[in-house]
Amino acid sequence: MTAPRRLAGARLAALVLALAGAAPARAAAPPPAAAPAAASPDPAAPRAGLGGDAALGTRKYADYEKPAACASCHVDIARQHEQAMMSQSYTHAWDEIEYFELAVPHAAKNPKVAGVKAGCNGCHAPIAFLAGDVPPPRPEKGSRANEGVSCDVCHTIVGRTGDPSVNFNWISEPGRVKQGTRGDATSPYHTVKANPFLKTAEFCGTCHNEQNPWGVFVKSTQLEWKAGPHGKAGIVCQDCHMPPAPGRAARQGPERLDVRQHLFHGAHDPGKLAGVAEVRIHPEAREAEPGDPLRFTATVVNAKAGHKIPSGSAEERVLWLHVEAKDSKGRSWHLPVSRKGFPGEAFTISDPAALAYQDIGDIQGLTGFKGLARDGAVPAGDRIFRLPYFDEQGRMTIAQWNTASLGTDYRLAPLSAVNETYALTLPDDAAPGPLTVTATLWYSRLVSSVAEFMKVPAEEYAPVLVNSHQTTVTVLP
Ligand code: HEC
Ligand code: HEC
Ligand code: HEC
Ligand code: HEC
Ligand code: HEC
Repeated sequence: MTAPRRLAGARLAALVLALAGAAPARAAAPPPAAAPAAASPDPAAPRAGLGGDAALGTRKYADYEKPAACASCHVDIARQHEQAMMSQSYTHAWDEIEYFELAVPHAAKNPKVAGVKAGCNGCHAPIAFLAGDVPPPRPEKGSRANEGVSCDVCHTIVGRTGDPSVNFNWISEPGRVKQGTRGDATSPYHTVKANPFLKTAEFCGTCHNEQNPWGVFVKSTQLEWKAGPHGKAGIVCQDCHMPPAPGRAARQGPERLDVRQHLFHGAHDPGKLAGVAEVRIHPEAREAEPGDPLRFTATVVNAKAGHKIPSGSAEERVLWLHVEAKDSKGRSWHLPVSRKGFPGEAFTISDPAALAYQDIGDIQGLTGFKGLARDGAVPAGDRIFRLPYFDEQGRMTIAQWNTASLGTDYRLAPLSAVNETYALTLPDDAAPGPLTVTATLWYSRLVSSVAEFMKVPAEEYAPVLVNSHQTTVTVLP
């Protein structure tokens, strides 16, 4: 169920331009208001000036209302949105660091990736992108780029310009009309248009699928969803990330049974990660004597996400399974995962000696930079559920825009289980009694070596406990 990594022919070229920029024809493309308001995907629709790309510099900041203007009536929704990453997509520390210290300098150095200087903001600071403010001021300047994915960004999206949804190929028509989904809502402040597009996963996919200047899909959350059981069952992103609850959508609005909660929480919420994947471990035999070969199988299930775990920014996430045995006297042994032998497996087993991310040195012009620990602080021999991203020279990278190819996809697919085996020869001095074996699943949003090198605040990469399970074997005297 791997998402398509490449699109054929003209469409690929056009999509890549959408992010890579620099196409002279683009300047002549019509502003998005003149583009067809395609509410449903139509692959045959005219592709001129693909979506967000054509929109660069076609609007003014003033065309979009501030979230504060909506907050006076939509109180709860506004408070929820303030706490979601959506409103922090331009301001939070790691975003600022990666954009200003890696992407912008790289864009200045390498024409191949020059388009990211503007393109990152098509999703992270859409109104700055629309206003042609490239690069936008740093967050500390307090400019309107800081609004990130604001109310008026989403509620003025009328459709998209192509299929699939990718690289901010939404069409934005700001103004008095707010796009909603109900059809019976009336507001003293704005007009409302019922737009079925907002109910689709493809709406979210306009920013949650990304194809980079190399043509590689470096984010495929909506494509993963579509290929998986939730996509097939029609359970959309909104159902999990904006679930309905009884209440009022606006201070002056009626009581409704199903007001969409603007929670949008994901990997930044330890509570969302807790239990998101389940772990069970069992031994092959219940009793053992010193010197016996012990074998354990751990089963890991992506029980709750509608896409892979990790999804989205998979280049920087690490999800790993750690297994330890402890005897009745408290002596413990770490069990490395047994190899399965699939191609590319080496990237899924933690190796403290492996170096990667050398492109950071190229981008920052560091001489003698050997790279950083590929797996950060993940203990040696632990299984890592990940999708490795490689630069043109085949080195692992966290720079998704600098990714020329992807490795073996060893992430957790929705509603699927994966088995990992562990072997231990029971040491001669293992104490008689119960031997407890614990499998623990950990998640970190950014590989720690990169985080430390780039001075990313600790809370952005601190390991989060996802789940854990224990089993026992009786050690006979
Ligand atoms: C003066 C009060 C007021 C302000 C300010 C206001 N709204 Fe509304 N809005 C309402 C009311 C009332 C409704 C109807 C609620 C209902 O029927 O449940 C509404 C409904 C909506 C809907 C739902 C439409 C649907 O059919 O699902 C959206 C979307 C919306 N507003 C967006 C915005 C945005 C974006 C802003 C800021 C740019 C904003 N509103 C500012 C009062 C306001
Ligand atoms: C069945 C419920 C469900 C559906 C459907 C679903 N999600 Fe999620 N999503 C989750 C859960 C649970 C998590 C937390 C686990 C994680 O971070 O991977 C999550 C995490 C995320 C994350 C953070 C991923 C990461 O690893 O950084 C993003 C982004 C996201 N979802 C977007 C979407 C989009 C876009 C869609 C629709 C295409 C969608 N989700 C559909 C449940 C769902
Ligand atoms: C990432 C895009 C996004 C952002 C940001 C966003 N919304 Fe929404 N909003 C939606 C979608 C999608 C729906 C409709 C969900 C559905 O019906 O399936 C919605 C629904 C609504 C509704 C109708 C709720 C209901 O069920 O009656 C209101 C009102 C609203 N949004 C206001 C706001 C305000 C105010 C903000 C900013 C504080 C905001 N939205 C930010 C995407 C967004
Ligand atoms: C205009 C672009 C845009 C649209 C449309 C959009 N998103 Fe996002 N979303 C983002 C960006 C950018 C981030 C990353 C914020 C960050 O971490 O910097 C994000 C982050 C998220 C997260 C991750 C939060 C976390 O804790 O890691 C979830 C969940 C999410 N979006 C769900 C949705 C859903 C559901 C929809 C559709 C209803 C949607 N998004 C539509 C741009 C968008
Ligand atoms: C097509 C839309 C899109 C483009 C273009 C884009 N991003 Fe993102 N970015 C997202 C979304 C959506 C997420 C959230 C995914 C998730 O939670 O896993 C995200 C997440 C991130 C994160 C991780 C935030 C965190 O704390 O986990 C960083 C950093 C980031 N983007 C930087 C960039 C940079 C730098 C660029 C340009 C080179 C860029 N993005 C281009 C949509 C985009």
